[in-house]
Amino acid sequence: MDKALLSKTAAAMVAKGRGLLAADESSGTCEKRFKSVGVESTEENRRAYRGLLFATPGVEQYVSGVILFDETIRQKTSDGVAFPQFLAGKGIIPGIKVDKGAKELALCPGEKVTEGLDGLRERLAEYFKLGARFAKWRAVITIGDGIPSHACLYANAHALARYAALCQEASIVPIIEPEVLLDGDHTIERCEEVTEATLRATNAALAAHNVSFEHTILKASMVLSGKDCARQAGVDEVAERTVRVLKRTVPAAQPGVVFLSGGQSDLDATAHLNAMAAMKGLAWPLTFSYSRALQNPALKVWRGSLQNVAAAQRAFHHRAHMNGLASQGKWKHELESKAA
Ligand code: 13P
Repeated sequence: MDKALLSKTAAAMVAKGRGLLAADESSGTCEKRFKSVGVESTEENRRAYRGLLFATPGVEQYVSGVILFDETIRQKTSDGVAFPQFLAGKGIIPGIKVDKGAKELALCPGEKVTEGLDGLRERLAEYFKLGARFAKWRAVITIGDGIPSHACLYANAHALARYAALCQEASIVPIIEPEVLLDGDHTIERCEEVTEATLRATNAALAAHNVSFEHTILKASMVLSGKDCARQAGVDEVAERTVRVLKRTVPAAQPGVVFLSGGQSDLDATAHLNAMAAMKGLAWPLTFSYSRALQNPALKVWRGSLQNVAAAQRAFHHRAHMNGLASQGKWKHELESKAA
């Protein structure tokens, strides 16, 4: 365990004005996304699309790291440079999703637990050799009638802690991602309660497994009204409730907090981050680790065509730029229309 390397990686991931691109969609998720724009999800199309994002001129100003998928970390640019080396050459840290997905949790109907601990030590050693310096594990917490259960919160927290300990042992910074899903008609109050309980359970497990908070990055979901809830909270309320939960649960020792977008619109994800980052006196930098909210416009422009690559890169650059500003509380809505 190289503590100096862990500290250096964690600090660089959340460096001022920069955040993470999540490009670690599993092949199944990729298929869904590609289908929405009429592109076949072949290995070559996935490589071409990711390559386009990574090669976007100047995007390294706003993107500190990229979360890769097992297939992607082994792929190359059209010029034959391995993606991790290509990214590192631009000053972007390569990361890797190491969980094997959320599966039904036995005896807990409607709930999931993330798998992937078996053989993880060996996989981490290989990923380190391939260039990965941080990792991601996503746990999924569903809000519904009588759920999440205690069993679900603690099973997921335990897995996150086992994963994080293995990462640190391998000198790889673990991103701890317990995502409270947006789906459902629950109120924002309920989301706040569940998010707090989730983070408390997660932190208790991390502490029990001797994981050092100094060398982890939390990837949190924002506190939001359920997607089908009649009352949709506004930007300021989302920001206040999310930061309140973070203040109650995230140790000041943690180097930073990144957010997932979770199905919010691109602009909501940017506005929410901006409102939080603009708050004074926070103990940690806040930034983005978005997949959909960074990639949506680029994917729509690209549509699988070589002719659209430059325009797709401009669309991606714009969202990365807007979120880079938002991570410093410097984003304004007018900046969106100016660019358009
Ligand atoms: P979204 O931003 O699309 O929620 O994806 C982020 C992510 O990495 C989920 O694990």
